[in-house]
Amino acid sequence: MKDKNNLGPVVGSIDGHDIQANQLQRKGWSWGNGYNTPSDGADTNAGQQPVRKLTKDAKSIVIFWSRSGSTKLLASQIAKRTGSDILEIVLDHPYPANYQQTLHRANRERRTNQPPRLKMSLPDLSQYETVYLGYQTLAMTLSQPMKAFLLAYGQQLRNKVIAPFLTEGDYGAGDSVDWLREYTGAAQIQQPLVVDGNWVDESVRNVDR
Ligand SMILES: Cc1cc2nc3c(=O)[nH]c(=O)nc-3n(C[C@H](O)[C@H](O)[C@H](O)COP(=O)(O)O)c2cc1C
Repeated sequence: MKDKNNLGPVVGSIDGHDIQANQLQRKGWSWGNGYNTPSDGADTNAGQQPVRKLTKDAKSIVIFWSRSGSTKLLASQIAKRTGSDILEIVLDHPYPANYQQTLHRANRERRTNQPPRLKMSLPDLSQYETVYLGYQTLAMTLSQPMKAFLLAYGQQLRNKVIAPFLTEGDYGAGDSVDWLREYTGAAQIQQPLVVDGNWVDESVRNVDR
């Protein structure tokens, strides 16, 4: 397998785009709950365009954001198994490659209640019955990019079935599902699929369940 940008080998693909996920190389104590995980400084998109796969017939769509690739890999597995369309959330300014700087920014965004600005448009979602929402626990809450997305577009998910999936550093989903309810008003929110960020490659059986 290739190793590009020092972010780990290519571990999968999503709509023809390679996926690297640095955390997967760290299975034991060295993982450190995701601490110090670097990224490409472009929210996984340094070498390619964000994923935007929209078809006429799909009844479900995977909407996700990922900084270091783990949630992107989980998104790819779910999209393949469900035949879903895919929409990647894109920020105006991606998170830094450096972990500490990223933590500083995520904490500031949470503290000041100023989630990042988006740089994307929303397609017409009327054909979809189910929306798989992929995010991560960052700074002990729903990641700020997903919060930004839901603040902008959450009400358009009100009448959908929401199926959340997230990766985290072993501290769990926290209060994130409550926020999904708050921002979408959706009546049907399924139990979230929660996977440690360094075990996504082993999670295929969870996805099937
Ligand atoms: C800035 C930052 C803050 C994080 N805060 C938490 C946290 O509060 N709780 C937790 O369980 N994991 C936390 N993590 C770990 C991430 O949730 C985990 O690494 C996740 O798999 C990253 O997803 P991604 O590879 O799709 O970006 C944090 C990671 C980063 C980069």
